[in-house]
Amino acid sequence: MFNYVSYWENRGWSGGEPEWIDEIFPHIPRGAKTVLDVGCSDGRYAPLFSKMDYTGVDINAGQIAIAKKKCPGCDFYVGDIIDWLDNFQYDLFFSSKFLQHIPPEYIEEVSESLKFRCKNGIMIECVGDGKGLAEHNWHHDYRKLFNVVHEEVLEGPVRLMVHGKK
Ligand SMILES: C[S@@+](CC[C@H](N)C(=O)[O-])C[C@H]1O[C@@H](n2cnc3c(N)ncnc32)[C@H](O)[C@@H]1O
Repeated sequence: MFNYVSYWENRGWSGGEPEWIDEIFPHIPRGAKTVLDVGCSDGRYAPLFSKMDYTGVDINAGQIAIAKKKCPGCDFYVGDIIDWLDNFQYDLFFSSKFLQHIPPEYIEEVSESLKFRCKNGIMIECVGDGKGLAEHNWHHDYRKLFNVVHEEVLEGPVRLMVHGKK
């Protein structure tokens, strides 16, 4: 079986500066106080949510250690989201190039849990024919999995999608 922990530990991820801030920012719901950044890596998006209680979770312990140093005021946890989606409620979930890495056999469980636990969501994920995508990406039908109330093209196959409660 494919070992996600060692894959991500070996691959790591450094996305550099957060991208598409101007596009994301208007979709943060007014009044939202808590946010969960799923697959947060080194927490590069934490500053975007500086006015909220921010929690980041990632399977890669090395990236979480970096995130903790960069953003001491935030909560970061090491965990596989598939096991971790447990006992929490957040106003918002945020995923950047994360759900695309959840295998098809788990995506419904993960999306159902996110929808149940979080009122709203902002997703930046690759869709489409996969050209230019890295390995271990899957093309999920986000419109089927979430209640997508806004979608826009950011770059190539990368979309910004906003989930709102029905
Ligand atoms: C392409 S990186 C994106 C990181 C970050 N969201 C960003 O945009 O900078 C994908 C991240 O998802 C994490 N990841 C992959 N599968 C995961 C899982 N099942 N549970 C938690 N994190 C996971 C990886 O460790 C990696 O940091």
